Amino acid sequence: MKIPITLQIALLAVGMTGFYTLVGQAVPQKEVHPPEVIEVAANVTTAELVEIGRTVFEGKGICQTCHTIGKSGALRFPDLQGIAERAARQRPGYTQLDYLAESLYEPDAFIVPGFVAGMQPANRPPIGLSDVEILAVIAYLQTLGGAATVTVDTKFVYTGGAREQDAAEAATEAVADAAGSEDEEPSDLASGEAAEAEAAGDRAGGDDG
Ligand code: HEC
Repeated sequence: MKIPITLQIALLAVGMTGFYTLVGQAVPQKEVHPPEVIEVAANVTTAELVEIGRTVFEGKGICQTCHTIGKSGALRFPDLQGIAERAARQRPGYTQLDYLAESLYEPDAFIVPGFVAGMQPANRPPIGLSDVEILAVIAYLQTLGGAATVTVDTKFVYTGGAREQDAAEAATEAVADAAGSEDEEPSDLASGEAAEAEAAGDRAGGDDG
Protein backbone atom coordinates (compact mmCIF):
# COMPACT_ATOMS: atom_id res chain seq x y z
CA MET A 1 0.00 0.00 0.00
CA LYS A 2 1.28 3.46 -0.86
CA ILE A 3 0.98 6.05 1.94
CA PRO A 4 0.26 9.56 0.62
CA ILE A 5 3.09 12.00 1.25
CA THR A 6 0.97 14.31 3.44
CA LEU A 7 0.11 11.39 5.68
CA GLN A 8 3.77 10.44 5.83
CA ILE A 9 4.66 13.93 6.96
CA ALA A 10 1.85 13.93 9.52
CA LEU A 11 2.99 10.58 10.90
CA LEU A 12 6.57 11.81 11.07
CA ALA A 13 5.48 14.91 12.95
CA VAL A 14 3.47 12.89 15.44
CA GLY A 15 6.33 10.46 15.84
CA MET A 16 8.89 13.20 16.47
CA THR A 17 6.66 14.97 18.97
CA GLY A 18 6.13 11.74 20.85
CA PHE A 19 9.83 10.95 20.80
CA TYR A 20 10.86 14.32 22.21
CA THR A 21 8.13 14.19 24.83
CA LEU A 22 9.55 10.87 26.01
CA VAL A 23 13.09 12.22 26.02
CA GLY A 24 11.95 15.31 27.90
CA GLN A 25 10.33 13.21 30.59
CA ALA A 26 13.33 10.93 30.87
CA VAL A 27 15.57 13.85 31.79
CA PRO A 28 15.59 14.21 35.58
CA GLN A 29 13.77 17.37 36.61
CA LYS A 30 16.14 19.82 38.21
CA GLU A 31 14.92 21.76 41.21
CA VAL A 32 15.50 25.45 40.70
CA HIS A 33 16.49 27.44 43.77
CA PRO A 34 16.42 31.20 43.50
CA PRO A 35 20.00 32.42 43.85
CA GLU A 36 20.85 33.72 47.29
CA VAL A 37 21.06 37.44 47.75
CA ILE A 38 24.56 38.30 48.86
CA GLU A 39 24.57 40.50 51.94
CA VAL A 40 27.18 43.22 51.94
CA ALA A 41 28.03 45.00 55.19
CA ALA A 42 27.95 48.80 55.16
CA ASN A 43 31.61 49.02 56.18
CA VAL A 44 32.97 46.55 53.65
CA THR A 45 36.39 47.51 52.27
CA THR A 46 37.29 47.83 48.61
CA ALA A 47 39.41 44.66 48.86
CA GLU A 48 36.44 42.79 50.28
CA LEU A 49 34.22 44.16 47.53
CA VAL A 50 36.66 42.74 44.98
CA GLU A 51 36.40 39.30 46.55
CA ILE A 52 32.60 39.48 46.65
CA GLY A 53 32.66 40.62 43.05
CA ARG A 54 34.80 37.68 42.02
CA THR A 55 32.40 35.28 43.73
CA VAL A 56 29.43 36.89 41.98
CA PHE A 57 31.26 36.89 38.64
CA GLU A 58 32.06 33.19 38.92
CA GLY A 59 28.72 32.25 40.43
CA LYS A 60 25.30 33.82 40.40
CA GLY A 61 26.33 36.52 37.92
CA ILE A 62 26.69 33.77 35.29
CA CYS A 63 29.25 36.01 33.57
CA GLN A 64 31.40 33.03 32.69
CA THR A 65 28.71 31.40 30.62
CA CYS A 66 29.75 33.99 28.05
CA HIS A 67 32.95 35.76 29.09
CA THR A 68 36.48 34.46 29.42
CA ILE A 69 39.43 36.11 31.16
CA GLY A 70 42.72 35.77 29.35
CA LYS A 71 41.61 33.88 26.27
CA SER A 72 42.41 35.05 22.77
CA GLY A 73 41.46 34.05 19.26
CA ALA A 74 38.08 34.18 17.58
CA LEU A 75 35.72 34.73 20.50
CA ARG A 76 31.96 35.16 20.50
CA PHE A 77 32.07 37.38 23.59
CA PRO A 78 34.62 39.97 24.64
CA ASP A 79 37.43 38.56 26.77
CA LEU A 80 37.58 40.61 29.96
CA GLN A 81 41.33 40.49 30.57
CA GLY A 82 42.53 44.10 30.72
CA ILE A 83 38.97 45.47 30.80
CA ALA A 84 39.92 47.96 33.56
CA GLU A 85 42.34 49.67 31.25
CA ARG A 86 40.23 49.29 28.10
CA ALA A 87 37.11 50.64 29.78
CA ALA A 88 38.81 53.99 30.33
CA ARG A 89 39.18 54.64 26.60
CA GLN A 90 36.39 52.57 25.04
CA ARG A 91 33.88 55.43 24.76
CA PRO A 92 34.84 59.07 24.33
CA GLY A 93 33.80 61.16 27.33
CA TYR A 94 33.29 58.11 29.53
CA THR A 95 35.41 57.41 32.54
CA GLN A 96 36.34 53.83 33.32
CA LEU A 97 33.60 53.60 35.94
CA ASP A 98 30.93 55.10 33.67
CA TYR A 99 31.82 52.56 31.04
CA LEU A 100 31.80 49.58 33.38
CA ALA A 101 28.50 50.65 34.92
CA GLU A 102 26.90 51.10 31.51
CA SER A 103 28.27 47.75 30.31
CA LEU A 104 26.40 46.10 33.14
CA TYR A 105 23.21 48.13 33.50
CA GLU A 106 22.67 48.99 29.86
CA PRO A 107 24.79 46.66 27.72
CA ASP A 108 23.03 47.56 24.48
CA ALA A 109 23.83 51.27 24.82
CA PHE A 110 27.20 50.57 23.27
CA ILE A 111 28.15 47.41 21.44
CA VAL A 112 31.81 46.48 21.68
CA PRO A 113 33.26 46.71 18.15
CA GLY A 114 33.54 43.26 16.60
CA PHE A 115 30.76 41.76 18.73
CA VAL A 116 26.99 41.62 18.55
CA ALA A 117 24.46 42.54 21.21
CA GLY A 118 23.43 39.64 23.41
CA MET A 119 23.98 40.55 27.01
CA GLN A 120 21.02 41.17 29.29
CA PRO A 121 21.20 44.02 31.81
CA ALA A 122 22.90 42.62 34.92
CA ASN A 123 20.16 43.93 37.21
CA ARG A 124 17.46 41.96 35.41
CA PRO A 125 16.88 38.26 34.88
CA PRO A 126 18.52 35.96 33.99
CA ILE A 127 21.50 37.65 35.65
CA GLY A 128 19.40 39.55 38.20
CA LEU A 129 22.03 41.07 40.46
CA SER A 130 21.35 43.66 43.16
CA ASP A 131 22.99 47.09 42.90
CA VAL A 132 25.56 46.24 45.55
CA GLU A 133 26.40 42.96 43.82
CA ILE A 134 26.94 44.89 40.59
CA LEU A 135 29.11 47.36 42.50
CA ALA A 136 31.20 44.43 43.73
CA VAL A 137 31.47 43.01 40.20
CA ILE A 138 32.68 46.43 39.02
CA ALA A 139 35.32 46.41 41.79
CA TYR A 140 36.47 43.02 40.55
CA LEU A 141 36.51 44.14 36.89
CA GLN A 142 38.68 47.09 37.95
CA THR A 143 41.34 44.60 39.05
CA LEU A 144 41.52 43.04 35.58
CA GLY A 145 44.27 45.28 34.31
CA GLY A 146 44.05 47.91 37.03
CA ALA A 147 43.31 48.56 40.67
CA ALA A 148 39.93 48.69 42.38
CA THR A 149 38.88 52.15 43.55
CA VAL A 150 35.15 51.85 44.20
CA THR A 151 33.85 51.86 47.75
CA VAL A 152 30.50 50.70 49.04
CA ASP A 153 29.34 54.34 48.75
CA THR A 154 30.20 54.72 45.06
CA LYS A 155 27.10 55.64 43.08
CA PHE A 156 26.46 55.37 39.37
CA VAL A 157 23.92 57.10 37.22
CA TYR A 158 21.85 53.90 37.55
CA THR A 159 21.97 53.94 41.34
CA GLY A 160 21.17 57.56 41.97
CA GLY A 161 24.59 58.99 41.18
CA ALA A 162 25.82 61.11 38.32
CA ARG A 163 27.97 60.15 35.41
CA GLU A 164 31.59 60.98 36.14
CA GLN A 165 32.95 63.53 33.75
CA ASP A 166 36.39 64.40 32.69
CA ALA A 167 37.21 68.08 33.00
CA ALA A 168 37.13 68.85 29.27
CA GLU A 169 33.71 67.35 28.75
CA ALA A 170 32.33 69.03 31.85
CA ALA A 171 33.56 72.39 30.54
CA THR A 172 31.98 71.82 27.13
CA GLU A 173 28.68 70.89 28.73
CA ALA A 174 28.77 73.90 31.03
CA VAL A 175 29.12 76.16 27.99
CA ALA A 176 26.31 74.34 26.19
CA ASP A 177 24.10 74.60 29.27
CA ALA A 178 24.73 78.32 29.59
CA ALA A 179 23.91 78.87 25.92
CA GLY A 180 20.75 76.80 26.01
CA SER A 181 19.49 77.75 29.44
CA GLU A 182 16.99 80.38 28.31
CA ASP A 183 14.77 78.19 26.20
CA GLU A 184 15.23 75.07 28.29
CA GLU A 185 12.40 73.51 30.26
CA PRO A 186 12.95 73.84 33.98
CA SER A 187 14.67 70.69 35.21
CA ASP A 188 13.10 68.45 37.82
CA LEU A 189 15.55 69.76 40.34
CA ALA A 190 14.73 73.36 39.53
CA SER A 191 10.98 72.81 39.73
CA GLY A 192 11.51 70.86 42.95
CA GLU A 193 13.30 73.82 44.38
CA ALA A 194 10.58 76.15 43.18
CA ALA A 195 7.97 73.99 44.89
CA GLU A 196 9.97 74.07 48.07
CA ALA A 197 10.30 77.82 47.90
CA GLU A 198 6.55 78.12 47.39
CA ALA A 199 5.89 75.88 50.38
CA ALA A 200 8.24 78.00 52.45
CA GLY A 201 6.35 81.08 51.28
CA ASP A 202 3.05 79.50 52.32
CA ARG A 203 4.43 78.76 55.74
CA ALA A 204 5.68 82.32 56.07
CA GLY A 205 2.28 83.61 54.98
CA GLY A 206 0.57 81.38 57.55
CA ASP A 207 2.76 82.82 60.30
CA ASP A 208 1.76 86.33 59.35
CA GLY A 209 -1.93 85.71 59.57
C1 HEC B 1 24.61 35.86 27.43
C2 HEC B 1 26.01 36.18 27.36
C3 HEC B 1 26.56 37.19 28.35
C4 HEC B 1 26.52 37.15 29.73
C5 HEC B 1 25.85 36.12 30.62
C6 HEC B 1 27.27 38.29 30.18
N1 HEC B 1 27.73 39.01 29.10
FE1 HEC B 1 28.93 40.67 29.16
N2 HEC B 1 28.81 40.84 27.14
C7 HEC B 1 28.18 39.95 26.30
C8 HEC B 1 28.29 40.43 24.94
C9 HEC B 1 27.70 39.76 23.70
C10 HEC B 1 29.02 41.62 24.99
C11 HEC B 1 29.44 42.48 23.79
C12 HEC B 1 28.27 43.22 23.22
C13 HEC B 1 27.95 44.46 23.99
O1 HEC B 1 28.77 45.38 24.01
O2 HEC B 1 26.85 44.53 24.56
C14 HEC B 1 29.34 41.85 26.40
C15 HEC B 1 30.07 42.93 26.88
C16 HEC B 1 30.52 43.06 28.18
C17 HEC B 1 31.43 44.07 28.64
C18 HEC B 1 32.11 45.11 27.79
C19 HEC B 1 33.41 44.47 27.32
C20 HEC B 1 34.37 45.35 26.57
O3 HEC B 1 35.36 44.80 26.07
O4 HEC B 1 34.17 46.55 26.47
C21 HEC B 1 31.60 43.87 29.99
C22 HEC B 1 32.48 44.68 30.92
C23 HEC B 1 30.79 42.74 30.35
N3 HEC B 1 30.13 42.27 29.24
C24 HEC B 1 30.72 42.23 31.63
C25 HEC B 1 29.88 41.18 32.00
C26 HEC B 1 29.71 40.74 33.37
C27 HEC B 1 30.47 41.28 34.56
C28 HEC B 1 28.79 39.73 33.34
C29 HEC B 1 28.19 38.99 34.52
C30 HEC B 1 27.52 39.81 35.52
C31 HEC B 1 28.39 39.55 31.95
N4 HEC B 1 29.06 40.46 31.18
C32 HEC B 1 27.49 38.60 31.52
C33 HEC B 1 27.55 38.79 26.68
C34 HEC B 1 27.31 38.38 27.98
